Amino acid sequence: MTRVFSGVKPTGHLTLGNYLGAMRQWAAVDQYRADSLFCVVDLHALTVDHDPARVRRLSRQAATLLLAVGLDPELCTVFVQSHVDEHARLSYVLECVATDGEMRRMIQYKEKAARERERGGSVRLSLLTYPVLMAADILAYGADEVPVGDDQAQHVELTRDLAVRFNQRYGHTFVVPRATVPPVAARVMSLQDPGSKMGKSDDAGPGIVYLLDEPEVVRKKVMRAVTDSGREVVYDREERPGLANLLEILAACTGGNPEALSGVYESYGSLKKDTAEAVVELLRPVQERHRALCADPGYVEGVLRDGAERARAMARPTVDAAYRAIGLLPAVSDTDAGVVLNAAR
Ligand code: AMP
Ligand code: TRP
Repeated sequence: MTRVFSGVKPTGHLTLGNYLGAMRQWAAVDQYRADSLFCVVDLHALTVDHDPARVRRLSRQAATLLLAVGLDPELCTVFVQSHVDEHARLSYVLECVATDGEMRRMIQYKEKAARERERGGSVRLSLLTYPVLMAADILAYGADEVPVGDDQAQHVELTRDLAVRFNQRYGHTFVVPRATVPPVAARVMSLQDPGSKMGKSDDAGPGIVYLLDEPEVVRKKVMRAVTDSGREVVYDREERPGLANLLEILAACTGGNPEALSGVYESYGSLKKDTAEAVVELLRPVQERHRALCADPGYVEGVLRDGAERARAMARPTVDAAYRAIGLLPAVSDTDAGVVLNAAR
């Protein structure tokens, strides 16, 4: 059976971009057709300036939202990255396979590091090594597919390179995974700045629709979306990015096609109105389930505990195999010490 792994980091409230670009696919398709794991990647949230209490809060909220969008713990494994030691164990080994040069070439690193330096801050070393930890997340589980938004494609490509390199040098250990990106809304843009991604950790609040925004707030944000000068509704990502973004959001919400939808609308106003309503309707059931889950925190905790246990059992053998393959001496208990030490010689 195909193995799927993906994750979301608790650096801010989850957005419509997270949902359309990734989570919806996990809940609607992946969990039914594959043996899948979905993870709140909290270690990744420590790569930038962070408040410990906020990360804890956002991790709990992200886990609750994963269930609220429809992930079913009977069908898939939902867990928190830091609850499973194998991620950090494998990350170090992969750091011994990755190069400094390939880390520095990562677009997300270059952008985030530049932003941090502009602010006069310092760049954490973990921001540079972040893609290696992400590769460890994926490779520890032998994932075949990694459903992500467009912005993560480069990191999955790096993961493939590391897997191939490790396998060539030290013997076949890892499955070489591939990214799967949704056909529409793989990159939802900010409603205020259609040139940049709708990112949860960005400051431009009015340009971001959060999954837990009240319907009135969603309507306001969509109605105030920046569009381009011009009158006709046409789908052109290059020349009319603001309009294209709205058409893609509407298409993703309604299962339509952005190009075809552009022919249906005569004015920007009516497009915005329908898009706002489509988003409100899309989020309604998610928000309802989120409310119900918040009333039962013990349930969410139980799901995460079981999830971590299952995940540990899946990752352990692969990470142990990688340790042996790269030359680390197995730790053994007294009873089987002789046997294993002899086998490892
Ligand atoms: P992150 O918020 O960076 O943890 O992302 C979690 C998942 O959501 C990843 O698969 C991202 O590629 C996806 N994602 C985040 N923002 C967007 C966006 N604006 N459009 C489409 N996908 C996104
Ligand atoms: N880096 C991803 C992001 O920013 C989150 C992530 C971490 C991830 N580990 C992963 C996604 C493993 C897929 C698979 O969105």
